[in-house]
Amino acid sequence: KTKKQNGYKLQTLTSWLLMQEQDGVIDSELTIVISSTSMACKQIASLVQRAGISKLTGGQGAVNVQGEDQKKLDVVSNEVFSNCLRSSGRIGIIASEEEDVPVAVEESYYGNYIVVFDPLDGSSNVDAAVSTGSIFGIYSPNDDCLVDLEDTTMLDNVEQRCIVNVCQPGNNLLAAGYCMYSSSVIFVLTLGKGVFSFTLDPMFGEFILTQENIQIPKAGKIYAFNEGNYQLWDDRLKKYIDRLKEPGPNCKPYSARYIGSLVGDFHRTLLYGGIYGYPRDKKSRNGKLRLLYECAPMSFIVEQAGGKGSDGQQRILDIQPVEIHQRVPLFIGSTEEVEKLEKYLS
Ligand code: AHG
Ligand code: MN
Ligand code: MN
Ligand code: MN
Repeated sequence: KTKKQNGYKLQTLTSWLLMQEQDGVIDSELTIVISSTSMACKQIASLVQRAGISKLTGGQGAVNVQGEDQKKLDVVSNEVFSNCLRSSGRIGIIASEEEDVPVAVEESYYGNYIVVFDPLDGSSNVDAAVSTGSIFGIYSPNDDCLVDLEDTTMLDNVEQRCIVNVCQPGNNLLAAGYCMYSSSVIFVLTLGKGVFSFTLDPMFGEFILTQENIQIPKAGKIYAFNEGNYQLWDDRLKKYIDRLKEPGPNCKPYSARYIGSLVGDFHRTLLYGGIYGYPRDKKSRNGKLRLLYECAPMSFIVEQAGGKGSDGQQRILDIQPVEIHQRVPLFIGSTEEVEKLEKYLS
């Protein structure tokens, strides 16, 4: 009698991507781009987890285009992400939180994908080893903005055209994902047909499929807002928050959970339900989070999981970016929770 095949069938990110390619969900070029983002995330995971050992904690001593004091790991993660994308040979343009302007990639020899990314999200937490992450979105080229770069007279044109190419609404995203660097390293991805999560097995450095077609709970009694800004908020928003704390005679108040890393707060919201919010306030008229490489990719993911991503009035994915680093208010999570909040702001 032959030994019964054991049920031990491992699905890695690589084998899963090849299956999506065979099923025609993505083409081989996009497969290569996504593989290169996962390679970047594995390297960043290792850098973040060993930061104290390799003296990579602390400030870089520079301020980025956002006006933020860069961490050493902001800069290193940006280099790792950019280099992995470049060496895929399929990228036309990259736009990063840590780059002033989009960068036309010369090494592209086949395919001109556009990748927007936040190489280290929640980086203020990294020296205390609190969860951080990387966020990315992938667009196909609006039109080929790669002109002959030798022709420097075209430089401003190339830069301008790169900005046009990158400033696409989230509705155009082909794929979006994030990697959370926490007690587990978890790579979450959507190709437009559901949300899948892969957990890194450090034994052999592969992401293993751990959740398929993730659906966010329709409702959830967890809210994640930085209430330190409460006094600066719109009165209608204050009323909404107050109501979460005093819901009335026969229902329990909500729990507050806020770690200050969008990726960590979002991942918990995706699995447990609830709402994450970063509203506009009197100091920051458009809130803090960046549309292109934080709000749009996360909103694509949450909608694919049956949730909602809104700026309080409209779908995040409908917003046409006009500036690479533009900020928008973000309310994201369980559909019922986001709709409840929108009613207060309407
Ligand atoms: P980043 O570290 O990429 O600049 O993003 C930080 C963002 C987001 O991750 C987090 O939710 C938010 O900033 C926290 O902001 P506050 O510290 O103002 O709450
Ligand atoms: Mn930052
Ligand atoms: Mn961020
Ligand atoms: Mn960042």
